[in-house]
Amino acid sequence: MRRPLMAGNWKMHKTIAEAVAMVNELKGKIADVKDVDVLICPTFTSLYSLSNEAKGSNIKIGAQNLFWEPKGAFTGEISANMIVDAGCSYVIIGHSERRQYFGETDETVNKKTKAALNAGLIPIVCVGETLNEREMNVTFKVIEKQVRDGIKGLTSDEASKIVIAYEPVWAIGTGKTASPEQAQEVHEFIRKVYSEMYGSISEGTRILYGGSVKPDNVAELMKKTDIDGGLVGGASLEASSFEKLVKFSK
Ligand code: 13P
Repeated sequence: MRRPLMAGNWKMHKTIAEAVAMVNELKGKIADVKDVDVLICPTFTSLYSLSNEAKGSNIKIGAQNLFWEPKGAFTGEISANMIVDAGCSYVIIGHSERRQYFGETDETVNKKTKAALNAGLIPIVCVGETLNEREMNVTFKVIEKQVRDGIKGLTSDEASKIVIAYEPVWAIGTGKTASPEQAQEVHEFIRKVYSEMYGSISEGTRILYGGSVKPDNVAELMKKTDIDGGLVGGASLEASSFEKLVKFSK
């Protein structure tokens, strides 16, 4: 049985005060939720304050990126240990916006994934095809390469900790969600590739869907066998809407 994970990726939104206020509000709204893992990934500047605000609650805090070196002359970068030090337990790696705007590649995703695991963080490794790739019928080829190259070379123990997020680029922030069937088809494929790499570990691996997940489509998506949670942008920014996502089954 895979425990669902509902994760909010706040991207570059919210000041520290706004972030703390929302987590404070959310804590009250979801205090009774026991069967879903809840994660908020704010900007770096809010990590420490939010970790403190979330202490003792059922909300976990994660970062949106890291750099793979432990320390040194790398101006502007943040290491995995620093993220742990700020109170985080998760980190998003290889989001399509980082691939698109900041030159992230499968090779850097792999280095970051290993650095995260070394530090004890759970990496949420993002994969997804562009609209052009979907229209050219190369979705599975693209996803397979991202999974094989991005998550290669792990021990079984490490491989068992990974979370994978399927985020079709054409569905991010566009209001166009992949249909539950379209998403399920790719999730099943990702699990198959992961099982070829790491055997039966793949049965326990959580695969999240991301791309215009909203309160009105979350339940249908979550019904699908291989969809184990959501990685949510826009609809995670308001406590009332994120609450509905966390309570998708109720
Ligand atoms: P939206 O939910 O705003 O489409 O963003 C999805 C996403 O990129 C989450 O990482």
